[in-house]
Amino acid sequence: MPEAGSEWWKSSVVYQIYPSSFNDSNGDGIGDLPGIIDRLDYLQQLGVDVVWLSPVYPSPWDDNGYDISDYTDIDPRFGTLQDWDRLREGLHERGMRLVMDLVINHTSDRHPWFTASRAGDPGKDDFYFWRSGREGGPPNNWGSVFSGPAWTRDDERDEYYLHLFSPSQPDLNWENPKVRSAVHEVARWWLDRGADGFRMDVINFVSKNPKLPDGPVIGDHGIFADHAINGPRLHEFLHEMHREVFDGRDVLTVGEMPGVSVDRARVHTNPVNRELSMVFQFEHVDLDHGPGGKFDPLPLDLVAFKASLSRWQTGLGDVGWNSLYFNNHDQPRAVSRYGDDGRYRVESAKALATTLHMMQGTPYVYQGEELGMTNAHFADITDHRDVETLNHHRTMVATGRVDPEAAMAGIARMSRDNARTPMQWDASAGAGFTTGTPWIGVNDNHTEINAEAAVADPDSVFHHYRRLIELRKEHPIIVHGRYTPLLEDDPRVFAYTRTLDGRTLLVLANWSGEEAPVELPQERAGTGTRMLIGNYPEPERVLAPLRPWEARVHLLD
Ligand code: NOJ
Repeated sequence: MPEAGSEWWKSSVVYQIYPSSFNDSNGDGIGDLPGIIDRLDYLQQLGVDVVWLSPVYPSPWDDNGYDISDYTDIDPRFGTLQDWDRLREGLHERGMRLVMDLVINHTSDRHPWFTASRAGDPGKDDFYFWRSGREGGPPNNWGSVFSGPAWTRDDERDEYYLHLFSPSQPDLNWENPKVRSAVHEVARWWLDRGADGFRMDVINFVSKNPKLPDGPVIGDHGIFADHAINGPRLHEFLHEMHREVFDGRDVLTVGEMPGVSVDRARVHTNPVNRELSMVFQFEHVDLDHGPGGKFDPLPLDLVAFKASLSRWQTGLGDVGWNSLYFNNHDQPRAVSRYGDDGRYRVESAKALATTLHMMQGTPYVYQGEELGMTNAHFADITDHRDVETLNHHRTMVATGRVDPEAAMAGIARMSRDNARTPMQWDASAGAGFTTGTPWIGVNDNHTEINAEAAVADPDSVFHHYRRLIELRKEHPIIVHGRYTPLLEDDPRVFAYTRTLDGRTLLVLANWSGEEAPVELPQERAGTGTRMLIGNYPEPERVLAPLRPWEARVHLLD
């Protein structure tokens, strides 16, 4: 078992597994739990402390498992509960923990709760948001995150139900105390079985303005405003869940919160309030969304990006805690999005990682990120599998708002499928992921970019991540040091210090393919300095110009 201790998650690094794309043990083209068990030594070698498992519960798979039809079982495509027990044991034996994905803002429309609610069964009739229509249409003007209205009329019940995501993902009515206790029971069930915490899907969506009023329509989706999310009872609901489920247990809880502000996050993660260990905020990853939304991306504005991350660093520096991420299963691959997935793929993957891992907070590594895996570069919509991408494409092309080529250009850059292509284990036809036909195409570049090659190469992105993770264990300054941004207006250099007990860590990263001078006063170079990590040979002086995508970390005395 990993050692217990308060707030162990502050010095941990979390690795996210997207199970359907990680490792397939039975040749059906879909990753599974036995496949993950086969790769535990790899995770141990990387040095991560925690595995967050994206959903593996029974699901009709409309939103790749984020539509759950049974909270306390495993979907046969992934294996059995006994496989899950073996996975938990395998992780615990290696000193790692296991965090489950708790999707409790909504269920699948095939969940027995919804079937009973739709039939008006007493006790379940108020488990979801049911309303009559208004003037022959939906009860309000809210749009769904996955395009189209957030309401669907149900013939059986003769009413509309609310779904902030797909119609197959009806929102649970958290105003009903019975819903909340049912959800608490599910969470306790997993902790009793040995889970070490939860990543909580869109958890700030669970409290809505109870009047469900019309709201401003933002882009295609009328929901990212406080009438539909961040509602008046959110703190109460989270606090109650802490009391009923987490109190007295040594767990990690991370709440996914699109649209959360620094001020709100301070409250959610202040330990005194007993809500959550940390939240996933979206400000930095939303900055390149253009006027037409995420599929209309803008070039990265590094000055604004730095300002945003720095605001979160200082905002949660004394109270609360940050999560640190550039990648997950909902974001395109960072090396393609912010770095350079061509000539400087290796350098830029290391530079992005160094920039992120030296900040204050808990870093999250998304499978394949540690190899510098790139976007899929799919050219055709038929290569895609993601409901959000397919709906967006259909809407854009059907309404003629965007010509098909432009729609595909946005999708190629921003689709979630970019992150969901199979993990690249080796150079073989199925990338070592499957012996069968993968459910989504393997990236052609697996012949070059794969774990086997990376583990064998001491200069690989993999070993850079391994070293970054190791440094976090060796230097408390990385966990606890105070963050101060430097060169805030520099359009290419990402620089900051961390300070603790009179020592300073200087982090310098060139986020461009050109040489960049480091315009800092000489005293910043320190006297006795030690370079802890870098992606080029150590330069003669600390403040030497940065080479293309160079990143290094100096400990100054
Ligand atoms: C956030 C999840 O990360 C995403 O994959 C999913 O589609 C939505 N929530 C709905 O559950």
